Amino acid sequence: MSKNITRALGRGRIMKVAAIATAIATVGVLSACSSGGGGATSTSTSAASGNATKGSITWWASPITTSGADPRTVLISAFEKAYPNIKVKLVSAPNNTDTNRATLTTQISGGGGPDVYMGDVIWPAQFGAHQLAVPLSKYLPKSYWDGFASGLVDGATYKGQVYGAPFFEDQGFLYYRKDLLQENNLKVPTTWEELVQDSKTVQGKGEVKYGYVFQGDNYEGATCNFMEFLSDAGGTVLNKNQTKSTLDSPAATKALTFMQSLVKDGISPQAESTFQETQSMNTFAAGQSLFLRNWDYAYSNSQASGSAVVGKVGVAPMPTFQGQPTPGYSNIGGWNLYVNPHSKNVAADLTFIKWMTGKDAQTTLATQFSEIPTNAAVRSSSAVKNANPVLAIVSKTKLVPRPAQTPNYPQVSKAIYTAVNGVLSGSAQPADAIKTANSSITSALGGGL
Ligand code: GLC
Repeated sequence: MSKNITRALGRGRIMKVAAIATAIATVGVLSACSSGGGGATSTSTSAASGNATKGSITWWASPITTSGADPRTVLISAFEKAYPNIKVKLVSAPNNTDTNRATLTTQISGGGGPDVYMGDVIWPAQFGAHQLAVPLSKYLPKSYWDGFASGLVDGATYKGQVYGAPFFEDQGFLYYRKDLLQENNLKVPTTWEELVQDSKTVQGKGEVKYGYVFQGDNYEGATCNFMEFLSDAGGTVLNKNQTKSTLDSPAATKALTFMQSLVKDGISPQAESTFQETQSMNTFAAGQSLFLRNWDYAYSNSQASGSAVVGKVGVAPMPTFQGQPTPGYSNIGGWNLYVNPHSKNVAADLTFIKWMTGKDAQTTLATQFSEIPTNAAVRSSSAVKNANPVLAIVSKTKLVPRPAQTPNYPQVSKAIYTAVNGVLSGSAQPADAIKTANSSITSALGGGL
């Protein structure tokens, strides 16, 4: 998979960022670090690069998974064992990435907010451009950034500075009911057309209510799902430099028309236009759908107590449209750790971030919560790869990022999910919705910062 990410995000910039980080690190002491506080005051280079052993910090993080043990508290306890003089207070953030971002940007712009926050991989450009995050490459040396799986640091970079330390990666996967496919002599579908056919067969026998559940609510998740269909159909949202809309294309209309047909034909529920990750997960875990599109952690949710499909779930790369090379595209998601520019505990923040991206925390995230580790050594360990079927197929997925290198990405995405949601809820038609989205994106990109 590292090859895939590198291809998707481009390798050149990783090298450039690493070089800048080294140059800055060798300059030594960094002024922001001397602000100190909470017992973590330090102006030494070692503390500035994450070796502080005292302090207290607040960590803003959304729940990560929705069932079983809470990964955040599991990780905090282990961290506090390793660093008994650093106290971490968890602030639980909203589940919806858009609400999360809106709440956080209001707090930070107002001069407050947590010390460290877990933020989406699509935030670096916006947060970097608006000084909502500390450029971490000023503090942590090249050797630190070299430890991540290829492409991730590049995705966390805006204008030559790395703003987020990659914490875990998400990718879209196709979850299926092993038992029902087998009973009906069906293979795991590799095309969308096969997925529809299989759904009709199994729905027709009354074995499931729905064929396919995904995320179609009026929010970021609908953009992620659309990116997959759009890329499968051969379309793009923006040009290479992310300065112009390229959305208005037959490929985009094909993608949205297909999404519309899923709901119209009853393969997906009428309520798709209100589904986020949780609703689609719950429908699948209740045994009501043959297929589910969700992120890597959905596997651990599907096997948690309370699920009706324990032992019955398989996972595969996403399908594509007939005639296209398989597999289909998986959107890249995931979360980074960022530091608030108002933090008075930067030295302890960095210790926490280094530990969270290190071997112990990353192994826990992967083996207990089926998250894709960002730490390259952990990702390539065979114990981790054998921990569950999702991690075993990470090397087979084909990735597509969202066009988030522009600070105007929030408006670009809003144009997309508004179109998708309008079509799924029946209030718009695909070709018109794409045209409207295209002109909203054009004005968003022309509007400066
Ligand atoms: C997941 C992804 C994130 C994405 C979000 C959309 O949390 O990791 O990147 O924006 O889902 O709902």
